[in-house]
Amino acid sequence: MTVHFIGAGPGAADLITLRGRDLIAASPVCLYAGSLVPQALLAHCPPGAHIVNTAPLSLDEIMAEIAAAHAAGHDVARLHSGDLSVWSAMGEQLRRLRALGIPYDVTPGVPSFAAAAAALGAELTLPGVAQSVILTRTSGRASAMPEGETLAAFAATGATLAIHLSVHVLDRVIAELTPHYGPDCPVAVVWRASWPDQRVVKATLDTLETAIGAEMERTALILVGRAIGAESFDESRLYAGDYDRRYRPVGTDPRFPDTV
Ligand SMILES: C[S@@+](CC[C@H](N)C(=O)[O-])C[C@H]1O[C@@H](n2cnc3c(N)ncnc32)[C@H](O)[C@@H]1O
Repeated sequence: MTVHFIGAGPGAADLITLRGRDLIAASPVCLYAGSLVPQALLAHCPPGAHIVNTAPLSLDEIMAEIAAAHAAGHDVARLHSGDLSVWSAMGEQLRRLRALGIPYDVTPGVPSFAAAAAALGAELTLPGVAQSVILTRTSGRASAMPEGETLAAFAATGATLAIHLSVHVLDRVIAELTPHYGPDCPVAVVWRASWPDQRVVKATLDTLETAIGAEMERTALILVGRAIGAESFDESRLYAGDYDRRYRPVGTDPRFPDTV
């Protein structure tokens, strides 16, 4: 018996890995975080599967479901939205499973920042503009930010920021970022990336609030930085015609002669 933690992707039912889909199909128990995991994924469960929405459950209640499956020798498909490496509450579940000696594995998923970038048709790391992406959030009721992990500190790097769980404090986000990025810095908000009702607003830090209007839906990502929508950036050296590399040796004295 194994608990399979599976990244369920950002919302579109076909943005799940084949491995994740097959593990759902092979598991007689499915626990899913119902607030963001698309219901359509549950169609992959085998007939008669025990399917539980864990959104209203406590950690103790979730562990009781897993312990019951373990006692029955039933594999569990444990679905969380996006990828499991960020804001999934997987860490605390794995710690309990280790203490109980219950086996588990982890299958990654498409994170929401990648789905938001795809909705924009944007590369977040453009040569000469930004070469880092910072995945972050602001403090919430359930999770305070550790000291030092401030928007201002991240903004000081000039990297592209992908700010989660924060569209409800947009005014504060804009106020903290503007001194570092400048009021004309491009910003985009993507609501429910990859869902049928996906919505995108592109603006600058000083026009964003007006551009958005009264939108209140919270499942949104804020992407900020000079790489958003940039047209003026260097081309990557990797694909330059004169760039000598292992897979495309160039010139009379290539660096990797063995591969010619
Ligand atoms: C609890 S976190 C889950 C993050 C998830 N594990 C991931 O890999 O993206 C929820 C936050 O992720 C962002 N998010 C999740 N799905 C989204 C989507 N489809 N479109 C935009 N933002 C999304 C929002 O900021 C939301 O408040």
